[in-house]
Amino acid sequence: MPEFVAGLPKAELHLHIEGSLTPARAYAIAKRNGLDLDAFDPEKGAAARREFTSLVPFLIEYGKCSGVMRKEADFYDMMYDYLERAAENGVVHAEIFFDPQTHCYTDILEFKTVITGLTKALEEGRKTLGVDGKLILCFLRDRSVEEALQVLEDARPYMEVKSPVYTPDLLGVGMDNAELGFRPGRFKPAYDKARHAREAGLHCVAHAGEEGDASYITEALDDLKIERVDHGVRCLEDPAVVERLVKAQTPLTVCPCSNHRLQVYPRFFCGENAVRQLLSRGVKVTVNSDDPAYFFMGNVSAAGRACDASAYDGFLASNYVRTLALNSFDASFISEDDKKAHK
Ligand code: HPA
Ligand code: ZN
Repeated sequence: MPEFVAGLPKAELHLHIEGSLTPARAYAIAKRNGLDLDAFDPEKGAAARREFTSLVPFLIEYGKCSGVMRKEADFYDMMYDYLERAAENGVVHAEIFFDPQTHCYTDILEFKTVITGLTKALEEGRKTLGVDGKLILCFLRDRSVEEALQVLEDARPYMEVKSPVYTPDLLGVGMDNAELGFRPGRFKPAYDKARHAREAGLHCVAHAGEEGDASYITEALDDLKIERVDHGVRCLEDPAVVERLVKAQTPLTVCPCSNHRLQVYPRFFCGENAVRQLLSRGVKVTVNSDDPAYFFMGNVSAAGRACDASAYDGFLASNYVRTLALNSFDASFISEDDKKAHK
């Protein structure tokens, strides 16, 4: 099964680049930046990633490790590492989240350093690995809307075709970080601005319904006009929300290993194996790795197994996997012609 899945071309639509930073890479970057090495000891780092009770304790560790970044080369290396893993897993197209507010706005780093390192690695990854990577800029939802608007302002030169630093790689905006109590509607001004930011407009997605209940999904659809819901598994607690997602065929970027490791399923009422439940209700589900250096990379393979645990290496599981791979392109922001080519 893992070999079959790795050989199947697919798109990854929910991947935080900071969540791809392994303990070994965090240590190497900390070392070259002259930081306190004990705090980034790879063995301690790996141990700290073994158990999480929920999203926030994970975000604390994720924030700490992301704190090693200082230079353009750090962002380049983090991105190129991920693209190599993606190529090994059959990912040919990736729409990759990055969190400027995790790195900037503290006088340590400029937006330019972050985006230049990331886009240089994307360019090399396209040439050398054949992985087409794009970027989705995420707002931290537990910070202010004013700061989110400032991030968009900083990103502006990179989105203007006539600007000397223009990049076609910046594809959209998203929203991540602690969800409970940080409702999506507050970010309406930032999404309204983003939708008109680039000449072709930025695509809009948001994390909703991971720890927040189904009403967070409705609010993100209504107020932020998102085209895709990141996670979204708690829609299963409200049949009306499921019906809406099915009717509009709004894709969900589900991350089963992340949900499992952050204990989403036992703490809420959406039940086990959300992927199977959603597929059987007709939701356009995709399966993604979220933060592979903390959770697991082979999510499509794991989901295929879990969807038919009784015959995980057989025909049924491979059918689930094929559906998930097709959905991943369908739900992506590639052109309609490119979508047809992947059918
Ligand atoms: N949810 C919210 N924020 C995040 C996540 C997630 O799963 N991963 C990294 N930032
Ligand atoms: Zn996520």
